[in-house]
Amino acid sequence: MRAKIVAGNWKMNKNLSEAKALIKGLKKELKKVKLDKNTRVVIAPSSVNLRSAVNRTKKSVIEVAAQNVSHEKSGAFTGEVSVDMLNDIGVASSIVGHSERRTYYGETDALLAQKVDTVLGKGMEAIFCFGEQLEDRKSNNHFKVVESQIKNALFHLEATSFSNIVLAYEPVWAIGTGETASPEQAQEMHKFIRSLLKDEYGDKVADAMSILYGGSVKPANAEEIFSKPDVDGGLIGGASLKANDFIEIVKAI
Ligand code: PGA
Repeated sequence: MRAKIVAGNWKMNKNLSEAKALIKGLKKELKKVKLDKNTRVVIAPSSVNLRSAVNRTKKSVIEVAAQNVSHEKSGAFTGEVSVDMLNDIGVASSIVGHSERRTYYGETDALLAQKVDTVLGKGMEAIFCFGEQLEDRKSNNHFKVVESQIKNALFHLEATSFSNIVLAYEPVWAIGTGETASPEQAQEMHKFIRSLLKDEYGDKVADAMSILYGGSVKPANAEEIFSKPDVDGGLIGGASLKANDFIEIVKAI
């Protein structure tokens, strides 16, 4: 059975003391929740706070992921963080290809394919994000855009590599806007994504893939979105910054 995952993308929020306080709050709230064995709870703090987060979540179910990672292994790449650095401090997963990285830092499908290779090459997990812009949806090109984002960054991989990949469909028009894809829109796209995997890699890879939805998920709408059969959890931005809200979303899975 594929994993259900609720992942919090803290983006450029929370300094060290705020991060510690949020983790403390999450651990406290999580104690009251009976989690399914199949459910994963992930947080992605900023890179400078990862080490502290790993240390503070050791005895809890919370997993720590990076928000970004270099496509290069090491060397003269000022300002970058390598897979080895992450791995060394106990971070086993990284978000790759978030729309803010694509939009503000010019990350292309080709670069993201390299990032995925570097992450998987280290035995780590990539939480691969993709999603269409509003104009793509308005012009009815959303399936085409998502298909090319997935194919360009992932379809050079062997089937076995997909056990270290989590997919996150995040329509750009729904990120941080308060506007959510309807549960039906999410299901329609997730089903399409699973069919792409099925066609290229077969049922086993497609059925085992966790496909998360991201874009203005909050306690009030999480349950309905997560109730859809091809939605296996969420990547949460704004609502992951408050312990109560995030745990309410975890409870909805
Ligand atoms: P949001 O962000 O929940 O604030 O819309 C989601 C994301 O960017 O992953």
